[in-house]
Amino acid sequence: MKVFNSISEIRENLNQLRKEDKTISFVPTMGYLHEGHLSLVRYAKKNSDVCVVSIFVNPMQFGPNEDFNKYPRDEKRDLQLLQQENCDLVFIPSANEMYGSDYQTFVKVKKYSEILEGEFRPTHFEGVTTVVLKLFNIVQPHFAVFGQKDAQQAFIIQKMVDDLNIPIRIDVLPIVREADGLAMSSRNVYLNEEERKQALCLFKGIQLAEKLFNEGERDAHKIISEVKQFISQHDLAKIDYVEIVDKSSFEKATFLFEGKEYYLLLAVRIGNTRLIDNTILNLKK
Ligand code: PAJ
Repeated sequence: MKVFNSISEIRENLNQLRKEDKTISFVPTMGYLHEGHLSLVRYAKKNSDVCVVSIFVNPMQFGPNEDFNKYPRDEKRDLQLLQQENCDLVFIPSANEMYGSDYQTFVKVKKYSEILEGEFRPTHFEGVTTVVLKLFNIVQPHFAVFGQKDAQQAFIIQKMVDDLNIPIRIDVLPIVREADGLAMSSRNVYLNEEERKQALCLFKGIQLAEKLFNEGERDAHKIISEVKQFISQHDLAKIDYVEIVDKSSFEKATFLFEGKEYYLLLAVRIGNTRLIDNTILNLKK
């Protein structure tokens, strides 16, 4: 496994591999890797000749009052885990390597960056799409792999790829959960013992929604209000949003039609830790 800090060096290496007709996969991450990340790496490796993983805690996607400085980092452990997955190339740039001292260019998927997560994190998605486009231009993979855990992020990246005719396939893989159902996240380390217990209300809220849906409830507001009511019973939980959107358009849903797919999306603060989770509601379950 080769590790690069410089854009020109990883480019040179990848150019050579492209000449050899290798298929290249790419998994962008912010590190502090867990099984969720590793599931993407495994899939990428299995479906390509060369798997590239980036580790970059992207300052541009954090708001001024967010957790950029305390975001967990453990490069040594990350590299060990990636080695075990037979990852081929790892790209770990510095902020200076990515943005220099006079960075001016941004890419924004307008409408979809302003709703849901975007209402609570107004500059977040612009930071994500800008760094992901830069990483795509550096790595130029055949396909890139993202997690459904960040469903709106995956949707926005697919939209950017479509709108800008970027010749990269986007694959989205299911959410990996802890044994009790909590969605894996690098941010889970922020939770103390009591918060960790109450953090389960997101997954339990999802299960409640799935139960109502499977029993035939088709009124989105009814499902949303039951989930909100359940979550509010937890004294450390503060809901940012619980919404149901059409999976293919991210439009808010009111009535859930047969044959269509929806995302139930949740963002809940547990103490000072903001967690997101989601599930797909469809009739096939
Ligand atoms: P990060 O939060 O490190 O996540 C990297 C990738 O792992 C994302 O595609 C995310 O959806 C996926 N992921 C995280 N938790 C997961 C889980 N429990 N199950 C499955 N996949 C999971 O998302 C980012 O970094 C950044 O915004 C990034 C795209 C790298 C741009 O900076």
